[in-house]
Amino acid sequence: MKILFFSAKPYDKLFFDRFNEAHGFELEYYETHLGPHSLGLVQGAEAVCVFVNDKLNAEVMAALHEKGVRIVALRCAGFNNVDLEAAKKFGIGVCRVPAYSPEAVAEHAVAMILTVNRKTHKAYNRVREQNFSLNGLLGYNLSGKTVGVVGAGKIGKAFIRIMLGFGCKILAHDLYPDDVLAGNGVSYVSLPELFQQSDIVSLHCPLTKDNRYLINREALSLMKPGVTIVNTSRGALLNTADIIHALKTKQVGALCIDVYEQEEKLFFRDLSSSIIDDDQIQRLMSFPNVLITAHQAFFTEEALTEIAQITLDNVARLGENRMGENAPFMLT
Ligand code: NAI
Repeated sequence: MKILFFSAKPYDKLFFDRFNEAHGFELEYYETHLGPHSLGLVQGAEAVCVFVNDKLNAEVMAALHEKGVRIVALRCAGFNNVDLEAAKKFGIGVCRVPAYSPEAVAEHAVAMILTVNRKTHKAYNRVREQNFSLNGLLGYNLSGKTVGVVGAGKIGKAFIRIMLGFGCKILAHDLYPDDVLAGNGVSYVSLPELFQQSDIVSLHCPLTKDNRYLINREALSLMKPGVTIVNTSRGALLNTADIIHALKTKQVGALCIDVYEQEEKLFFRDLSSSIIDDDQIQRLMSFPNVLITAHQAFFTEEALTEIAQITLDNVARLGENRMGENAPFMLT
């Protein structure tokens, strides 16, 4: 079977080629996103393998179906960029990698909190320039702080385990509270309560139709002045204009984002010689208390290994109609 990879980077090729030896699929890699503009590349393949910023709307699904594609393999956990209804309508099997390494994302969220709080990124540059002054590097202890976790699923739980180790008090909000977690030092509260009481708010829920702009002007007004907000989940959970306003008024004391609503035009590329047309990201980058990473929370050896293995296994299963065996991995 031939699998076409979109949004492919050298590291995708490295890991997928390595683990394809067990399967023997024909793999073809394209750097461009999959979307209406790139459908011409889809030829002679039964499967396409896509990532977070590929756009698989109804139009793309219809075209894939027409071109004989019967499998869409997401090499990521989130699937907000795929029209599942359209996939069902055209009989296209969609699979994903729901839990390649929750720790990879959770540890990155913690790394961002520590960086923005203790300003190690600034200290590193200062010391290299023989500036040993501490002015402006003041942070706060994590121990004793209240951390609000929105979405206590696999990543949220991994994040909670680490933050409990720091001596933080954990508040969680989830559509489906977990009794085990509740008995282990975590208090489930309503979203407004979480916003009101947390020193740090970290988002670990998926982006759905119902929670777009979960963090908006109203939510921000409930939060403690100087709150730290962390988003390693999906960009559109945050209203960027509202967060910029809250940074200007100092309602938000620090912002860590690994995801951004308009990231598909920016992330995963070297734009260092380009004029960036996006004023909101430029404004965000101008704040000294904003830390942005370009969707790298998943980017560990362990996670890429699991992504490649599970994705290729998923395609093999779907190809042989063995879907039932591993149902949670399949979305249609
Ligand atoms: P999961 O499915 O294990 O957990 C998500 C949790 O969020 C579930 O417990 C669910 O009940 C809860 N939830 C759903 N809607 C909610 C809402 N409106 N309010 C509160 N809770 C809600 O998913 P997992 O593996 O923990 O991943 C979470 C998200 O992290 C993914 O959907 C994806 O968007 C993001 N992600 C980001 C990565 C990165 O590299 N930055 C990599 C992997 C995932």
